[in-house]
Amino acid sequence: MKRTHHCGQLNKVSVGEKVHLIGWVDSIRDHGGIIFVDLRDREGITQIVFNPEDDASLAEEASVLKPESVIGVAGSVGARPEETVNRKLETGGIEVVATTLDVHNVAQTPPFPIDDEKGDKVGEDLRLTYRYLDMRRPKMQRIFRIRHDACKATRDYFNEEGFLEVETPFLFKSTPEGAREYLVPSRLNPGEFYALTQSPQQFKQMLMVAGIEKYYQMARCFRDEDLRADRQPEFTQIDLEMSFIDREDMYALIEGLIRRIWKEVLDVDVRAPFTRIPYVDAMNRYGSDKPDTRFGMEIRDLGDVFAKSEFKVFASTLRSGGGIKAFNAKGLAELTQGELNHLTETAQGLGAKGLAFIKAEKGEWKSPIVKFFSGGEKAALSERLGIEEGDIVFFAADEWERACTVMGRIRLEAAELLKNKGRLEIPSDRYDFLWVVDFPLVVYEEEAGRYVAAHHPFTAPVPEDTGLLDSDPKAVRGQHYDLVLNGVELGGGSIRVHRRELQKKLFEDVFRIPPDVAEDRFGYMLRAFGYGAPPHGGIALGFDRMVAILSGVTSIRDVIAFPKTQKGQCLMTDSPGPVTERQLRDLHIRVMDTE
Ligand code: AMO
Ligand code: AMP
Repeated sequence: MKRTHHCGQLNKVSVGEKVHLIGWVDSIRDHGGIIFVDLRDREGITQIVFNPEDDASLAEEASVLKPESVIGVAGSVGARPEETVNRKLETGGIEVVATTLDVHNVAQTPPFPIDDEKGDKVGEDLRLTYRYLDMRRPKMQRIFRIRHDACKATRDYFNEEGFLEVETPFLFKSTPEGAREYLVPSRLNPGEFYALTQSPQQFKQMLMVAGIEKYYQMARCFRDEDLRADRQPEFTQIDLEMSFIDREDMYALIEGLIRRIWKEVLDVDVRAPFTRIPYVDAMNRYGSDKPDTRFGMEIRDLGDVFAKSEFKVFASTLRSGGGIKAFNAKGLAELTQGELNHLTETAQGLGAKGLAFIKAEKGEWKSPIVKFFSGGEKAALSERLGIEEGDIVFFAADEWERACTVMGRIRLEAAELLKNKGRLEIPSDRYDFLWVVDFPLVVYEEEAGRYVAAHHPFTAPVPEDTGLLDSDPKAVRGQHYDLVLNGVELGGGSIRVHRRELQKKLFEDVFRIPPDVAEDRFGYMLRAFGYGAPPHGGIALGFDRMVAILSGVTSIRDVIAFPKTQKGQCLMTDSPGPVTERQLRDLHIRVMDTE
């Protein structure tokens, strides 16, 4: 059955060669008794000809082939007549004149055409139910090639940099400080549970205590989160950890990795070093901790302009310590009432009380609030936001973080509207990598009534801020960094705490985890730090998100072979599913009727 070539390999140079190809019948055409079969395999398509004048019974056999059947063909390569050359195909100049045909398997009619364009119009549920057919499409094959190439570039890079790949357990224990975990009952320990690892975080730190010095892993992670286009319950991280380094070492290492991957996968030269933006600036300018800097429309603070505002909403916001933020959606004044309503609903969904705006149209400002503005305020506003005919300015008056977030979301939606109207172009090969740095170490969680880690509880404070841990924890910056690309959080990491006293202080004094709970969850870690833990730090990059961007698709479901739906189901295998009473009994579990 051995093939001599793949279906994408033959060209004019091969004319006259005897070849053997195997693959799937992509399409079949009958031109007055001459049968043309497009044969497809992983690498491409080759036209096969069965001519009844050469072999009538072979042509007869070929004429009843069904698409997606698996066949093998032997024959010789011939040049196509000039007028039948297909310039869209690499192999379009040749065809294989068949002398034998082996039918390895006859296929039923597939539920949708195995075709890039037609396949894209098929509902995703159907594609996922028949994922093995969906993945036969050239577009999907290309994505899994990119995924492989990116993985290989990653492994090559870290191997050359002296890293060891170490596998860490999936069955861990529950440490509910991060995302919601998947629990696994222990048959051998009745009533006890493992948790699937959300990430190898604690294990990779233990590997540093164990003297591995440089670790990496293409790590599978499990999180029971609400799923979206960029979130799956199981996903892959490029995970790493290093000893004896600081933040600068980590930036340089990861910039090198990204340059290597982009060069090898896309042949694109990424410029380094990447821009660094402190968290507070990212929020103030882009209203997001993962800013998309491929277009302008930056947010401005207008607190000083409206310090004496007659507009009640602005005046009271400023009085209560909040901020007034605005940005100019350049050229979007012509948006429809429906689009404007939608933006307002988006703002309200984020907790805003409204979405004030000014449209610059026909030489005047149209706005429900402009009647409250003085001449001076209008002039200052116009200057600061560069307001011109055809622009629309949006405002948020709120507590600082919410005002930023609302403007950030409206900025993205405005950009999307402008893009759809052909007024804003973002080149598809533009890659704005940046580091977001100087995050706060802790955030106050209203519900819990305590501080929690902004990243995770093992992140080290910036040394010069450590003194503030007791007096003003929220002013302490963490040695945490996020890698952002085109508005997507690609990765995050930090320099870790490596001294036992500081880690214990964070658990007990700052996060107020009761000592017995801290001991129960993290006791082993504190113990390990007592035996010579090296200074260390690391990062994890979302590999699925990276591959999606490299492939130019928006959903990570498209770059995962067998992903789950929004409801966490695998439509192909029909999981999750019920289990027998007997299985439950073995696991010491009873299912409650929650109806
Ligand atoms: P973090 O939780 O920020 O950090 O995760 C790192 C990166 O993983 C990706 N990611 C996801 N991708 C797909 N589906 C998900 N559900 C999902 N959740 C996260 C994101 C994210 O930036 N242990 C730390 C890293 C460290 O400190 O070294 C961690 O897991 O791209
Ligand atoms: P009002 O005076 O409450 O009718 O509000 C006038 C305009 O300001 C309306 O367009 C509201 O949507 C908008 N608005 C109200 N509260 C806020 C706020 N906190 N931030 C931005 N705009 C607001």
